[in-house]
This record gives sequence, C-alpha cells and structure tokens, in this order.
Amino acid sequence: MTLNWLDGKIDPFIRPGAVELQSSLHSQLIKNFANEDAAARFLSSDRVHWRRQAVLRSQHIMGKPISGTVLEIGAGSGWCSSLLSLMPNVNKIYCMDYDPVSVNTLIPQVQTVLSADASKIEKVYGTFNDIKLINELDFIVSIGALHHSENLFVTLSECFKALKPGGWLFATEPAYYDSENNRAILNRYKKEDLNSIAKYGRRAKHEENSDHYYRLCEYTAASYSSKFDTFPFVFDMDGNRNADDRALSERKVGQGFHKNVFFPYFAKDVGNPVFDSLLLMLQKPEDGGCETGHVLSCQGSKSQF
Ligand SMILES: C[S@@+](CC[C@H](N)C(=O)[O-])C[C@H]1O[C@@H](n2cnc3c(N)ncnc32)[C@H](O)[C@@H]1O
Repeated sequence: MTLNWLDGKIDPFIRPGAVELQSSLHSQLIKNFANEDAAARFLSSDRVHWRRQAVLRSQHIMGKPISGTVLEIGAGSGWCSSLLSLMPNVNKIYCMDYDPVSVNTLIPQVQTVLSADASKIEKVYGTFNDIKLINELDFIVSIGALHHSENLFVTLSECFKALKPGGWLFATEPAYYDSENNRAILNRYKKEDLNSIAKYGRRAKHEENSDHYYRLCEYTAASYSSKFDTFPFVFDMDGNRNADDRALSERKVGQGFHKNVFFPYFAKDVGNPVFDSLLLMLQKPEDGGCETGHVLSCQGSKSQF
C-alpha cells in the first residue's frame, strides 16, 4: 500500500517542473537496479559508498543503533530504506518521495532486488514540506534530499514536528563553506548542470531541479530556528587528512569545543573526492525544545538587555 500525503494538494514550496526532472532521472535509474549485480555496482559507486558510510557513522554520534520508526525523505530509489529494513532494531520505515515514478516503480523494484523486508516499509507519495506525522518518529534520514528544499526552515520545522522528543534527523548533503559569497552561489544555481543530459535527457540548470548548495551557516541557522540541537560535521575535502573516527565516538573529545559548534571530521579518502561535504545531525531535545533565543526575539523590538 502507498500512503498519499499530497492528496491533490499543491506544495507551494515545490518549484514548478522540478518533479518532472526527477521523474526522468528515476526512469533512467531503473536500469541500475535491473538485477543484483547492477544494484551492487550502484551501491559501491563512490557517492553511494560514502553515503552508506555516513549512515553507519551517524550511529556513533547518536550513541545508539538506528531503531524504531524511521522516515526517509526524498528517498529516490529508496536504496537506503531497503537497507535499513534489514536492520533488526528498525520496526517501520516511511519511504517518501514527491515523484510518482520513484514511489510507484523504482522503490518497489529496488526493494525486490535488494531483498528488503518490504513488510516494514510503507511507501509515501508526499513532500517533506508537509509531513503528516506528529511526535511519531525515532529517526529521519535525508540522503542528499534536504538540499532540494526551497525553504530549509519550513522543511526542518516539519521534520521537528514529526520526530519524538529525543529523536534524530540525519542528513548527508552537499554544502558550501560559509565564506562563499552570494554571487558564487547564485552563479552555480543559474548554471547548466553539466550532467543534465545524462540525468534528465535534456539540458537543465541546477535551479530547475531545486538543486541548492546551501552554505553550512544556512543549514545551521535553519536547524536552530526549527528548535533542533545541532551537530554539523564538516568533511575536509582539501586538507589531505584521513578519517578520524574518534571525533565521532567521543562526542566531547574536543576540549574547548562546545557540543553545538562545528566538529571537524575528516572521513573522506583523499584520493576519492566525493560529493557531500556535510553530515548534519540534528536532535529534537528530550523536553521538546524551547523557543529560539535572543537573535530572533529581539528583531523589530527594543533590546531586552
Ligand atoms: C539527490 S536525490 C537523492 C535520492 C536518494 N535519497 C538517494 O540517495 O539516491 C533527491 C531526492 O529528493 C526528492 N525530493 C526533492 N524535493 C522533494 C520534496 N519536496 N519532497 C519529497 N521529496 C523530494 C527527489 O525526487 C529526489 O528523489
């Protein structure tokens, strides 16, 4: 059964034409899951390999295995939901995308070829800007999906609402450094995606597919404003340093680091440059969180101090 969370409604935060591009992409992806060998090649490709590593390593940060009820937003082929369904402590997975080709064709095929436990997976046709769950989820996973949001605050607020107190959102995403200026970011957004013909069968700009490279500060500002406790891990793409998993397994290892500021995490193989540079771990506080602090509440009013 497939849940329909859109139910004929239009999400005002979805860019017109973006779903059609994803449908073209997902129609092409079907051949990557034609059989077990093809699927194994897809899962061991550089990009997916590192995304799988990030899922595994997120458990060090949380200090517990992925478990309970999970939502994958922007699931695409749903490879991650399929693999999560095989984890013993995971009971239920909502596997959601806004593209009907993904939900109706690609995800079921991937489940079959990866021998997923389909009894745990509920497919959802819906948008991450309108999540129909309240205080229900232990875990939300975004594998390269959040950066398609046209409004990170709206998307993250929906995720916050859907998580149980103490629940986690994990996202692995491309991101720019904070020092990147507006012009560079806009230029990329307006530029043609050089892989667009291979991906969509036609030329397309990054903006047509809502393909943002937000800056780290934009992710963190939206995260804090949505009331999350925020743990961003930035991969060092240029520093020639190898993985240091101690930073993950000992959350307080960085004496002098407040837990909510950036932890450098050098997990990437230098000879193997990869796409995502940000591992964003967000926790809904056990007490449900509090309103955002002075920065927002002072706006438009006299200083409280
Ligand atoms: C870069 S793909 C990642 C797909 C998949 N997570 C993976 O790892 O291969 C981004 C996915 O997000 C989906 N998406 C984009 N905006 C969305 C929205 N507002 N609601 C739900 N899914 C969305 C797209 O259809 C696409 O499948």
